[in-house]
Amino acid sequence: MQNPGAASLALFTREIWANPRAMGAACPSAPSLASHMAAHVPLDRDGLVIELGGGTGAVTAALLKHGIPPWKLVVIERSPTLAHHLRQRFPQLRVVQGDAAQLAQLLDHDRPRGVSSIVSSLPLRSLHPTTTRAIAQQLETLLQPGSLLVQYTYDLRGVPPRLLPHFRRRSTRIVWGNLPPARVEVFERE
Ligand SMILES: C[S@@+](CC[C@H](N)C(=O)[O-])C[C@H]1O[C@@H](n2cnc3c(N)ncnc32)[C@H](O)[C@@H]1O
Repeated sequence: MQNPGAASLALFTREIWANPRAMGAACPSAPSLASHMAAHVPLDRDGLVIELGGGTGAVTAALLKHGIPPWKLVVIERSPTLAHHLRQRFPQLRVVQGDAAQLAQLLDHDRPRGVSSIVSSLPLRSLHPTTTRAIAQQLETLLQPGSLLVQYTYDLRGVPPRLLPHFRRRSTRIVWGNLPPARVEVFERE
C-alpha cells in the first residue's frame, strides 16, 4: 500500500497541474512548518479555530495534535478533490468546500459560536488580487480585536503589510525545514 505521505504528494501534484495559482506551492507543508503554525493557536480561548486552505491535511493534523478539539475546528478548502480527501482523512471534522473569499457565508450557522483564531495556508501572493482583498475583508469581519491569524508565506521577507491592513504583526520566524523554507507570521486583529 502507498504510504500516506506519498499519497498526499501525488494528490497535491495533480492539483498543481489543475490549478497552480490556487495551490501556490510545490509540496504539502512539512511537519515542522505545520507544527510551528499550530503551536501559535491558543487553546484557552472560546470560539472556533478556522483553517483556510486545508490541502492534503498537514496543518489540520498538526492542529489536532496541538490539542484543538475536533468540534472547535472547521476546515475550508476550495478544491472539491482536496475537500473530499480531507473528509476521508478526518471524518471527525467539519470540512467545508468553498472559497475563503466568502468565508462568512460558508460559516453561516457556525458564526454565533465566534471565531477565536484563523490558520491560513492560502497562497495570498499568487491568488488574484481581487480574491486576496476579499479574503482580507472576510478576516477583518470575522476576527474580533485581539484575535489571531497565523499565515505562512514563501516570501522570506514576509506578508506585505498592504495585504493585511488591519492586522498587527506579533511574531515572525522562518522554518528552514520546509521545502522551500517558509516564513510563519502571527498577526493580531487591531
Ligand atoms: C499551499 S496549499 C495548502 C498546503 C497544505 N497546508 C498542505 O499541506 O497540503 C494552498 C491550499 O489553499 C487552497 N485554496 C486556494 N485558494 C483558496 C480559496 N480562495 N479558498 C479556499 N481554499 C483555497 C488550495 O486549494 C490549496 O489546497
